[in-house]
Amino acid sequence: MKALLSYQSGGPETLRVGEVPQPVPGSAEVQIAVRACAINYPDVLIIEDRYQFKPERPFAPGVEIAGVVESIGADVTDIVPGQRVMAVLHWGGLAEFAVAPAAKCTLIPDTMAFEEAAAFQVTYGTSYHALVDRAALKPGETLLILGASGGVGTAAIELGVALGARVVAGVSSTAKGEVARRYGAHEVLIYPTGSFDPKYFAGQIKQHCPGGVDVVYDPIGGAYSEPALRSLAFGGRHLVIGFTAGIPAPPWNLALLKGCSIVGVFWGVWVERNPQLHRQNSSKLLELHQRGAIRPLVSERFPLSEGPLAIRRLADRQAIGKLVVTV
Ligand SMILES: NC(=O)c1ccc[n+]([C@@H]2O[C@H](COP(=O)([O-])OP(=O)(O)OC[C@H]3O[C@@H](n4cnc5c(N)ncnc54)[C@H](OP(=O)(O)O)[C@@H]3O)[C@@H](O)[C@H]2O)c1
Repeated sequence: MKALLSYQSGGPETLRVGEVPQPVPGSAEVQIAVRACAINYPDVLIIEDRYQFKPERPFAPGVEIAGVVESIGADVTDIVPGQRVMAVLHWGGLAEFAVAPAAKCTLIPDTMAFEEAAAFQVTYGTSYHALVDRAALKPGETLLILGASGGVGTAAIELGVALGARVVAGVSSTAKGEVARRYGAHEVLIYPTGSFDPKYFAGQIKQHCPGGVDVVYDPIGGAYSEPALRSLAFGGRHLVIGFTAGIPAPPWNLALLKGCSIVGVFWGVWVERNPQLHRQNSSKLLELHQRGAIRPLVSERFPLSEGPLAIRRLADRQAIGKLVVTV
């Protein structure tokens, strides 16, 4: 089969389309003919050996797929060949075939296209778990989302609105601000890029959130985190989602002064440990999709051979919503 393969550690330009044997499903696994694979930040990290998993080379990156079940292992009873499924893998999605544990596959509703299904799972799964399970976001609370036009950011906007929060979207450009507004943000804050004065950013937040922020959704880190943490109202929650701008080291005394919580969110590990709760969250998300309250923003599509370009765009801060490779 064809796959987009990493033969050596390096950036997206080191990936090549090559031939490898089709993966064979184990007894509790299914083999999926991949139709679409969404790009995620771990794809940037794994090919440079900077991710928690370091697969043997050559391997294909790609964690979030949608496709058609091709064959099933001997112990699989609840999925049959021909069904449309979506699944989250550790890697291997940028290929014609992939295998996934049957227990981790979700049937794709008829109303959802493959590309949408591929873009649905990680972003909404993470943002729902973060806002509901970890932050207990309440109607009327103020939610500040950083990197709000990105994958997890756009999902957080829609879910924040659906949960009744007042959503303030933080982004780095006017164009990204328009996307955030289209996705339902009540207010948009355009923050500076590069080296900037944290006090200036803190002032911007104060202007948009005069009563303080109840929940900060932070997938970017870096110099942005401390001013956002300082902007929390007493009892606020700062959700630690990711570090596209670097790992920050804010002073601990802020947690005491604000009576606030700095809350780690690790969706993938939570799913492994709580399969039942994950299924409940997935059902709620599919319900919201059915009602039209959430809809993945697939902004660009790429063929497999242009997968490296998709990963490059994500790494270079140029992605809006989700980028999807069709196979
Ligand atoms: N904790 C979890 O369970 C979990 C799950 C999924 C993803 N994540 C993490 O969440 C983060 C975001 O993922 P994503 O898929 O939403 O990525 P994405 O679509 O690329 O969005 C990330 C956003 O970060 C902002 N950003 C700020 N500084 C940046 C920089 N130096 N380089 C690139 N982007 C920068 C960009 O928005 P602006 O230009 O507007 O600032 C960009 O839109 C990643 O670190 C990912 O690993 C964590």
